[in-house]
Amino acid sequence: MPVREERPRFAIIASGRGSNADALMRTFARGAFPADLVAVVTNVEGAGVLERAREHGVPGRVLVSKGMTREAHEEALLGLLAELGVQHLLLAGYLRILSPYFLSRFSGRILNIHPSLLPEFPGLQGAERQWKAGRSVVGATVHFVDSGVDTGPVILQGSIDVRGDEGPDGLAQRILTEVEHVIYPRAVRLFVERLRQPVESP
Ligand code: GRF
Repeated sequence: MPVREERPRFAIIASGRGSNADALMRTFARGAFPADLVAVVTNVEGAGVLERAREHGVPGRVLVSKGMTREAHEEALLGLLAELGVQHLLLAGYLRILSPYFLSRFSGRILNIHPSLLPEFPGLQGAERQWKAGRSVVGATVHFVDSGVDTGPVILQGSIDVRGDEGPDGLAQRILTEVEHVIYPRAVRLFVERLRQPVESP
């Protein structure tokens, strides 16, 4: 009898409107990855990403972080992820820093997207700061999450040329739609393919 291959189990973690989550859910729904998206988890009551999840028929879960210590919130999050059997996390606009303890529980299994060509412009407002710095080429990065702010190993980057007249908001919007929504699904595909490679002996 053929051995049934285990499909990796993913969750998206987000705090906001969820346009990257939407791009990822579309790609999962097309069956583009031999992997399952089991939930979208948010720390913000009423976050737009919940509506996106509903549209795609992906279970949405809310674990409000406001008013909780980081430790208590992460403990609850780890409990939920264990209950759902989640093995890999896709951060998509998750506005919380993860503790070293949390990271150790998902070591090498958390991806994030950031709106700049890292290592340039880590932190908040990456797209707008690229505009203000007068760059002619800007972009976004998908990377593994480590204990720094946007410092983990890069998986994939994409770039676009800046138009002189678009302003910071227009540029941020194009980075989102022309780069982020394209490279995040591609990076997840690369990651899933890597998971399927046989482990080489030393
Ligand atoms: C994106 O710009 C992403 O790069 C950053 O947070 C933003 C989230 O936007 N980490 P959205 O919620 O995916 O639309």
